Amino acid sequence: MAMVTSKTLFSIFFIPLLFSPLVTSKEYSFDKSLSPKSLHLRKEKLSHLHFYFHDIVSGQNPTAVRVAQAPITNKSPTAFGAVMMADDPLTVGLEPNSKLVGKAQGIYASASQDELGLLMVLNFAFMEGKYNGSTVSLLGRNAVFSGVREMSIVGGSVVFRFARGYAQAKTFWLNTTSGDAIVEYNLYVLHY
Ligand SMILES: *[C@@H]1O[C@H](CO)[C@@H](O)[C@H](O)[C@H]1NC(C)=O
Ligand SMILES: *[C@@H]1O[C@H](CO)[C@@H](O)[C@H](O)[C@H]1NC(C)=O
Repeated sequence: MAMVTSKTLFSIFFIPLLFSPLVTSKEYSFDKSLSPKSLHLRKEKLSHLHFYFHDIVSGQNPTAVRVAQAPITNKSPTAFGAVMMADDPLTVGLEPNSKLVGKAQGIYASASQDELGLLMVLNFAFMEGKYNGSTVSLLGRNAVFSGVREMSIVGGSVVFRFARGYAQAKTFWLNTTSGDAIVEYNLYVLHY
């Protein structure tokens, strides 16, 4: 008499189940239409957020560190190829010890050989009031020596679900020796 192994049991009981109509029933379908109301999406609103971004690259406690570079980066006048990882405090006022409203976490990298032009890929992670735990994602080009730089808001989470909009950045203070900077940010965000 043949041994009934767990493998044969699998074949007898489970394989027919895989091909049964039960498994392909509607509740397992890949996609379906939803009404916006089912996600509590009512009226789109526009929020304006204003804060100061503190980018500290020097000293014992930097908030942004270089994580990669190219062999030519140190010879490039724009540090082309340098990649920085930031966890920069965002404060309501311009003083570094002003109230913390969030952190800018992500990457900025030197992406231009002609002028200092950064590729910015940041999540603004907020911790203030109703925004605590919500994020906004920024993707854009930052020509840091221009007056006001505009970058895209490409999405967000929690209160910023379906976010889109733009950010304007203006350097408030820059130490050209150390590279430390305080940048004023204005965000205009459409969300629900
Ligand atoms: C933000 O939320 C976290 C986690 O829920 C909580 O620990 C923290 O105290 C909150 N911060 C503020 C400023 O409300
Ligand atoms: C600018 O940075 C340099 C080098 O870290 C430092 O010696 C100097 O005090 C800084 N200047 C200001 C105004 O903070």
